[in-house]
Amino acid sequence: MKLKDLTFRKTIAANKISTKVSSLAKQINHDYQGKTPLFLPVLNGSFMFASDLLKEINLTCRVSFVKVASYSGTASTGQLKTLIGHEESLFNQDILIIEDIVDTGLTLQKIMDELRSLGARSVEAVALLRKQPAREKNLEVKYVGFDLETEFVVGYGLDYDGLGRNLTDIYKKVE
Ligand code: IMP
Repeated sequence: MKLKDLTFRKTIAANKISTKVSSLAKQINHDYQGKTPLFLPVLNGSFMFASDLLKEINLTCRVSFVKVASYSGTASTGQLKTLIGHEESLFNQDILIIEDIVDTGLTLQKIMDELRSLGARSVEAVALLRKQPAREKNLEVKYVGFDLETEFVVGYGLDYDGLGRNLTDIYKKVE
């Protein structure tokens, strides 16, 4: 499969993603029983994951969206644009951030710090994918779908220069 100048090969099929999403939802339903969590999907990349996950959440909950960007092409720029969008009051909320992928962890760390400083009761994260740099840093991600090395991936919400978000499987870049 080609997107612009790069070639990609399927690495996680849609049915494997769906099984994993169900098992993550099951853990979250169990852990947040009796609470009314606020889910915060991080746009744009997590739209598909968030949609599938939330359909399997059976808790009374709220959903709002945040947006940050630190990527340009296939490399993290390390420069974060600020968090926008969450209009809900965050004070005393049990917040669960929904991320597509955690790479360096800069994005997630920044969001978690900001939410904690706004007085949230608890702040946790669920990430469909986690790359090696985030694992090495021991960044706290309570729920993780799949662990990756450092490969660049697209599909299921993830993009390469804006392309590939609509693919139902996840593809990795061929070197
Ligand atoms: P971090 O701040 O380095 O952890 O980067 C996190 C963000 O970068 C994710 O929310 C994605 O939007 C983007 N990103 C990281 N790795 C990939 C990838 O392999 N493909 C597409 N986007 C990625």
